[in-house]
Amino acid sequence: MSDHTTQEFPPDPAFTEQAVGQAELFAQADADPEGFWADQARRYVTWSKDFTEVLDWSNAPFARWFADGELNVAHNCVDRHVEAGHGERVAIHFEGAEGDTQTITYAELQRRVCQAANALTELGVATGDRVAIYLPMIPEAIVSMLACARLGAPHSVVFGGFSADAIRSRVADAEARVVITADGQHRKGKVAPLKAAVDQAVSGEDSPVEHVLVVRRTGGDVDWSDKDVWWHDLVDRQSDRHEAQPMPAEHPLYILYTSGTTGKPKGILHTSGGYLTQAAYTNAVVHDVHPESDVYWCTADIGWVTGHSYLVYGPLANGATQVVYEGTPDHPHQGRWWEIIQKYGVTILYTAPTAIRTCMKWGAEIPAKYDLSSLRVLGSVGEPINPEAWLWYRKNIGGDRCPIVDTWWQTETGAIMISPLPGVTSLEPGSAQRPIPGISAEILDDAGEPFTEAEKVGYLVLTKPWPSMLRGLWGDPERYKDTYWSRFGDKYYFAGDGAKYDDKGNIWLLGRVDDVMNVSGHRLSTAEIESALVSHPSVAEAAVVGAADDTTGQAVCAFVILREGAEQSDSTVEELRSHVAKEISPIAKPKSVMIVSELPKTRSGKIMRRLLKDVAEGREIGDATTLTDASVMDFIKQGMSQR
Ligand code: WTA
Repeated sequence: MSDHTTQEFPPDPAFTEQAVGQAELFAQADADPEGFWADQARRYVTWSKDFTEVLDWSNAPFARWFADGELNVAHNCVDRHVEAGHGERVAIHFEGAEGDTQTITYAELQRRVCQAANALTELGVATGDRVAIYLPMIPEAIVSMLACARLGAPHSVVFGGFSADAIRSRVADAEARVVITADGQHRKGKVAPLKAAVDQAVSGEDSPVEHVLVVRRTGGDVDWSDKDVWWHDLVDRQSDRHEAQPMPAEHPLYILYTSGTTGKPKGILHTSGGYLTQAAYTNAVVHDVHPESDVYWCTADIGWVTGHSYLVYGPLANGATQVVYEGTPDHPHQGRWWEIIQKYGVTILYTAPTAIRTCMKWGAEIPAKYDLSSLRVLGSVGEPINPEAWLWYRKNIGGDRCPIVDTWWQTETGAIMISPLPGVTSLEPGSAQRPIPGISAEILDDAGEPFTEAEKVGYLVLTKPWPSMLRGLWGDPERYKDTYWSRFGDKYYFAGDGAKYDDKGNIWLLGRVDDVMNVSGHRLSTAEIESALVSHPSVAEAAVVGAADDTTGQAVCAFVILREGAEQSDSTVEELRSHVAKEISPIAKPKSVMIVSELPKTRSGKIMRRLLKDVAEGREIGDATTLTDASVMDFIKQGMSQR
């Protein structure tokens, strides 16, 4: 972030006047944080039984919010809007990858969710059972999530790009009884299989999966087993009425797996009342959603937390109208997103820096061909947005008028934590700025002391529990404590991100400080990719680093030592790249694989990834004095320069 800019964008008074989030919220939250959250919980959520206690932190770091309250999350996202007379409001403008469309009102969504809930019940799914969802971005994905929420059956959505192995390990860890998938998915004019990966993942005696519910999306051929049942056979014949039962506020809503510093993904657990409160509140005050007039569009996939909080739970709890798009930004042409904004009159766009940088590369003349004048708020999430991309976004997409909210948060935090409030905050390109009302953060030095000096780099921590915080890691309470609550003692939640203040007190996020990479806003663990590489018969050892990349933020760079007899050639390199794509996901495919004869290691045997990162980013190599053999780096550097 050396291109730090001093340009500031104060809010437009006309925007402020109509904004959902007002400056008073900060003072209210500071004066009485728990009272503040209780207010938000009652404003944004309808409780079947009101709560008497706000926060129970007696068993820290395991929080309980609004614990004696009861609600049904699906009722909050669907039924209550119909009951309030908004049944004919569009919930979802679905834009399919092949140009097929559906307009789904809240009344229609209610019917579909009820049918799906009845279908899952017929399959034996009861409150507390886990359901895995492996679907493309089609309405059935949202309907499935809400049907699970309605039954109190926690869902575990697995991103549609993940491999059979990834599904298998997630399904096994969550002990899912049912998997919901589709025959295939549309990708850039082609049909890609989807069910085949599930078939592989649920095969064998030891699979907990009893049923696989299959949506017909592409009509492609699929193998069929006695576990399988077609969605249209089972769901379509169900009654479209279903009585939603209230659940305790702390009832598990979902598990979402994310990369950690070891090879084993962490099952992040979110519960109902606190999660829904913060998802809806942030969607209202940060995205400035006015449900009666806005057309909101979050481009994230439901396989990631952004899709959970800002495509499903937040906007639907608020009764908003939104666009759901199945396809990619460049098919059939590079103006596809802007065409969609023009078509539906999208007013709020929430996307990722990597997408913006890609559009920058394609050129400003592409969005310029479309009418984007309906837009009034832009958002960014997933990784730091560099000031250059921020300014491009504001000018070329936001017509120099839309505020941009750069929102920092994590799968673990469940909802937005640090972000400007449009209409309140004077915007500073490249910085996520301040914790939102109700949230408190600090930056600590190596010794764990908070500081406020500008430009000094430290570690971001959160200092108070928040309603949508993770309630733990599925089945692994110790790992939860170790990962988040031990680095700086049990008073601070350690986020894993480096951060600094500027001279105005704005927070700048500087990327991960652990072995987690961020490629196009997707979290990948170095350990997971290394273990995929060493699972290949040609590889003896592997080290992976994330190297700075202009488009994707970071790119996966692998260094491998081959086994005796393995051929050192371009085709081996290609094979290893594809192997990682197959084992994990195409997202994890290394941009480069470099074959080396040794890896730099400390005397205790730890690979010094920091030095490999220097090589991968073409920098002067840093302090290598702790290496067992300092000449290793010379060899690696030579190898690099010969390429
Ligand atoms: C990074 C995505 C800077 C950060 C919601 C965090 C960001 C990780 C931002 C979480 C941002 C997310 N500025 N960095 N606005 N948003 N990050 O769990 O490193 O997929 O720890 O959640 O993404 O990624 P996750």
